[in-house]
Amino acid sequence: MTRARVTLVVVAAVLGVTALCAGAADLPLIGDPAPAFEVNTTQGPIKFPDDYSGKWVILFSHPADFTPVCTTEFMTFASMNDQFRQLDCELIGLSIDSNYSHIAWLRKIQELEFNGMKDLRVTFPVIEDLSMKVANMYGMVQPGADSTHAVRAVFFIDPQATVRALMYYPASAGRNFHEIMRLLIALQTADKHNVATPANWEPGDDVIIPPPGSCGTAETRVEGAGDDYYCLDWFLCLKKLAESEIAVPDGEW
Ligand code: BEZ
Repeated sequence: MTRARVTLVVVAAVLGVTALCAGAADLPLIGDPAPAFEVNTTQGPIKFPDDYSGKWVILFSHPADFTPVCTTEFMTFASMNDQFRQLDCELIGLSIDSNYSHIAWLRKIQELEFNGMKDLRVTFPVIEDLSMKVANMYGMVQPGADSTHAVRAVFFIDPQATVRALMYYPASAGRNFHEIMRLLIALQTADKHNVATPANWEPGDDVIIPPPGSCGTAETRVEGAGDDYYCLDWFLCLKKLAESEIAVPDGEW
């Protein structure tokens, strides 16, 4: 290969890698520590995770204030805020808007009625992130979709400030709040009882007990099945949890 050709190949490779990096959002994954930040919000300054010690946090982004889908989502989050709090979970919102815009929008939301929800006061903090500092830390800006607005991200962060689950939706699709609550309950139930939850699990359904780690335990697991648990096979055993063993919020969700 001539010198000029080698140079061309190297330049093309560097450009390719740079393009790939520019397209890839940086984000914390399941099991990673949730990135720390200090920000201004509609409820004053917050320091995360220090101000949330011992709590679950749902950190979520929306594309913009005064937009229709986001408005219905905020009304729904506001209507469920007390229910999340019953599960020791605090909500934190974020968009790439100013605090003035957030405040004006939240005041307007109080006047609206949607799906039977009305008189809603948004009392959880909404982060002012005009610099996109937090949005970029959490991969909330996905340039292929929009380089100046956040997508609809949801981070489930546990009391040890570890990311436990994440969801990303595009601007056009409002989130499913039953699923957000269901997933929080599933994560808390899994932690508390060392179990897993099967497909489409809802509180009250049977839960999965951890698979055996050796041939010996596989055999005793199946042989021991009876009143406490039952097995479809050695690797898939389920049991009931009493209603009192699963924390769920009051009311419908
Ligand atoms: C909305 O919330 O309605 C919305 C926001 C950004 C783009 C499209 C829709």
